[in-house]
Amino acid sequence: KLTKLDDIVSLCKRRGFIFQSSEIYGGLASCYDYGPLGSELKRNVRNAWWKSMVQMRDDVVGLDSSIFMHPLVWKASGHADKFADLVTVCQKCNTRSRVDHLTEGAEEHTEHIDPELAAKDAKNLDKKVCPACGAVGKFSAPMEFKLMFQTEMGANVDDQMKVFLRPETAQGIFANFRNVLDSTRVKVPFGIAQIGKSFRNEVTTKAFIFRTREFEQAEMEFFCEPGTDEEWYKHWKEQRFQWYVEYGIKKENLRFRDHDPDELAHYAKACVDVEYKFPFGQGDWQELEGIANRTDYDLRQHQRGMRTINDWYENGRDLTKVTLKEEAEDYHKGPLSFFDDQEKKRYIPYVIEPSAGIDRSTLAFLVDAYDEEEVKGKTRNVLRFHPAIAPIKAAVFPLVKKEGMPEIAGKLSNDLKKHFACFYDEKGAVGRRYRRQDEAGTPYCVTVDGQTLEDDTVTVRERDSMDQQRINIDQVKSYLRENLDI
Ligand code: GAP
Repeated sequence: KLTKLDDIVSLCKRRGFIFQSSEIYGGLASCYDYGPLGSELKRNVRNAWWKSMVQMRDDVVGLDSSIFMHPLVWKASGHADKFADLVTVCQKCNTRSRVDHLTEGAEEHTEHIDPELAAKDAKNLDKKVCPACGAVGKFSAPMEFKLMFQTEMGANVDDQMKVFLRPETAQGIFANFRNVLDSTRVKVPFGIAQIGKSFRNEVTTKAFIFRTREFEQAEMEFFCEPGTDEEWYKHWKEQRFQWYVEYGIKKENLRFRDHDPDELAHYAKACVDVEYKFPFGQGDWQELEGIANRTDYDLRQHQRGMRTINDWYENGRDLTKVTLKEEAEDYHKGPLSFFDDQEKKRYIPYVIEPSAGIDRSTLAFLVDAYDEEEVKGKTRNVLRFHPAIAPIKAAVFPLVKKEGMPEIAGKLSNDLKKHFACFYDEKGAVGRRYRRQDEAGTPYCVTVDGQTLEDDTVTVRERDSMDQQRINIDQVKSYLRENLDI
């Protein structure tokens, strides 16, 4: 029996949600392409996040920073030195695998390698099974494996500079903190949000689009006065949980998991994951999103980075030869500080960061919406998406391809398209067309039939209940608007 995830992967391919990347060349491991339905779905997930995090808030502004950044950014953030996994190499098949998977509760990404945890893991190596060839206990000593992808920038052959593909979007926000303060009317407390691609050379990828080497993040850095950070942490924790519920994820499939102190990333004072019960065989609770109290770590580190610029040039723009300058004594008055002109005080803000994965949320929305039910002795596959998430909001059909029905349906479909994603289909039996839309998660199907020619009414079929009702063709737009709530 195939698992629920297998069924979803198969539906995703069959219906054009998600394909393996470079499939015609045999595929590229852990890279995926979003097809016609998938790209709409993913865009809706992005838009839903943006709506709640930026559009609906007076205290959050948006940003779209570049993927490549100055290499010193990654020195200052700690990624150049610390963003690594602890790995071991199988002596039989030469495959790298993570060591920390042996320790229960290990963080998904080892943003710091805890020596104590590493020692505990190393002791367990004789029991470890190679994920590639199945050999037991035949491993090298644990070693660090850097997770950032590196490439070279510049046209001049003698003047190439090593740059990184960003492993998180957050640093683009910290690097623009001053720009945003100086160019807008924001005042602490406020947030900067962005959505964009991130890249990590993950040692182990996992389950379809859950953990890949190229992925999209939706991150918001919320800058607040030190001392108010715990309150804002609580606020964002609640907001983010609620966002998943609002867009249709069942509450019983979501939970919080606080990080233990020894699990915290190098920059965090506190961190909690919103976890989702993914169907990965073991009914796995897995991280969907992390919410962290990053303190003033990043802004302080970037002030140090700014002081290090001269050394960087003097050392031939070579990160390995550069050490960050010490922090200035009056760092709290530095270039990345904030002046509160009402309270007349200057400080480096603390940061609360909700960090979500667009691909991972898309998978959660797919999994949670997926349903199979028996209808008249046949299995009906249906994606019960929230209307805002559904790739297509309404499908319009002529019952048959004659008597002017296609013209009426085509006109209705074109009118509706001005307002939301709408799909016109005239091929095959109408029952089949309904089933295809059920599988795509389309909330409503509108059919033009013989009676339409007599009294201008059409049938509107609701996806979940399959109930049908007749309404006037002129009312279809307002009916859908009201029921889709978009
Ligand atoms: N700025 C903080 C940060 O990047 P993270 O916990 O490493 O924190 C945040 O990542 C979110 O990004 C995760 O909860 C997950 O949704 C997503 N994510 C991280 N690595 C991923 C990967 N390899 N593939 C897909 N999504 C990933």
